[in-house]
Amino acid sequence: MDADAQVTSPSLPRAYGFVPARGAGAMVEDVDGNILLDLNAGIAVCSTGHSHPDVVRAITEQAERLLHYSASDFFLPIYAETCARLDRIAPMSGPTRTFLTNSGTEAVEAAIKLARHHTRRQYLISFIGSFHGRSYGSVSLTASKARYHEGFGPMLPGVLFAPYGGDGPGYIEDVIFKRLAPPSEIAAIVVEPVLGEGGYVIPPKDFLPRLRDLCSEHGILLVADEVQSGMGRTGRMWAVQHFGVEPDILLAGKGIASGMPLAAMIARADLMTWPMGAHGSTYGGNPVSCAAALATIDLIEGGLLANTERAGTALLDGLRAIAERQPLVREVRGLGLMIGIEFEDAETADAVEVACFLRGALVLRAGDAVVRMAPPLLINLAQVATGLRIFEEACVDVGRVGPKAFRRAVGPYEAGPEAPETA
Ligand SMILES: Cc1ncc(COP(=O)(O)O)c(C=O)c1O
Repeated sequence: MDADAQVTSPSLPRAYGFVPARGAGAMVEDVDGNILLDLNAGIAVCSTGHSHPDVVRAITEQAERLLHYSASDFFLPIYAETCARLDRIAPMSGPTRTFLTNSGTEAVEAAIKLARHHTRRQYLISFIGSFHGRSYGSVSLTASKARYHEGFGPMLPGVLFAPYGGDGPGYIEDVIFKRLAPPSEIAAIVVEPVLGEGGYVIPPKDFLPRLRDLCSEHGILLVADEVQSGMGRTGRMWAVQHFGVEPDILLAGKGIASGMPLAAMIARADLMTWPMGAHGSTYGGNPVSCAAALATIDLIEGGLLANTERAGTALLDGLRAIAERQPLVREVRGLGLMIGIEFEDAETADAVEVACFLRGALVLRAGDAVVRMAPPLLINLAQVATGLRIFEEACVDVGRVGPKAFRRAVGPYEAGPEAPETA
C-alpha cells in the first residue's frame, strides 16, 4: 500500500486496505494470507467466482491461439460468436446487433453516439442517483455524487435529469417535455433498471413500463444500462425482465466475462443505421475476453441463474432477520444477489463496511448510507450463512461503540487482526 501510494493516481477511490493475492470461487486470499469471503465479486464483476476453471481454460486456450487482432478493421470469428450469443440472451424479441467494448463506460459512450446518430436528436434524459461511468459522455449522464463532476465541467451538453423512481415519468412529461425540451428532440432515456453505485435502489414496478410507454409514444430510445444489474446478477439474465420491459438498447459489462475486460452495447438491429467507420475500437471485443464471455454465459445459463435466486433469497431473508435484531439497519432490499442494506447515515455504513472487512468479509458502500452485497453468483448456502454471521457481528461491533469511535480505533485503512478488539 505504501508503494502504491507513491506511484498510482490518487483519484482511485480505494474503499479499505484489501490487497488481494489470489481467489477461488467466492473466496479471496490477501497478500498476508488472510482468507476472506468475497461479497463484492470484484465489484459485481466476477460473476462465476474467482478464476473459475472453465473460464480459465477458455482464456488459456484462446490466448495460445490468438491474443489480439482488431475486430474493428478485420474479422474475428469469436467476436461475431459473442455477438450472436448475446443476441440469443438479449431481452429484445427482435434481432439485435452488438458493438463490443473494453469497459462499461465505453458501452455507454457507444449508446450515446448511436442514439444521437440514429435519431438525429440531441437531448438525453438520465436520472438523479444514477451512475454510468467516468468518461465525458457517461459521466455527464451520472448523477450519483457531485464529486464525479467537480472540477471537470462543462459536461456534455444536452443532458437532462429526472428523479429516479415513481416521480420520474411524471417529471419527464410535466417538466422536461413541457418546459425544457420537446420530446421530438430527445434521443434517448438512459436508465439503470436497478440503481447500482447510487445505492442499490429497486424502482417501483411501474417505473420502467411507464418509461417504455413514453419512449414508444415519442420515438425516444430506451437505453437500459445493465452494466451492474445484468448477466444474471438479479436472478434473471437482465433486470429489465423483472419489469416486463424491452429496451431498445441494452448495455452489459462487469459480469459478462468474469473479470476480463469486456462490455457490450446490444441494440435492436434496425437501430444500427450508422455507416462503416462511424464507430470502432482497437481492443473492444478482444478474443481472449470473448472466450471468457462465452464460458461465462455457459456457466450462468447452466446453473448460476438458479443458484442466484436460491442464494439471493437466503441472503435477503437472513439480512431481513438481522435488520429486526440490529437497530443500525434501516432497510434491506434486493433482487437476486444484488442487495443493499441501508443505514442511518454514511458514517455508520462506512464503519460497518470496514468492520466486515476486519472480520473477513468484503462488502462495499453505495449511495449515501448503503452497504451493497454483490457476491459471485456461485456463492453457496454455507458461505451465505458465514456472510450473514460476519455482517451481524460487524453491526454489533459498530453499534457497541458507535461509528465514529469504531473508525477512530481502526484508522483509515489499517486493518490489523487486533482491530476488532481495539474497537
Ligand atoms: C451501471 C453502470 N454503468 C456503467 C459503469 C461503468 O463501467 P466501467 O467502470 O467498466 O467503465 C458502471 C460501473 O461501475 C455501472 O455500474
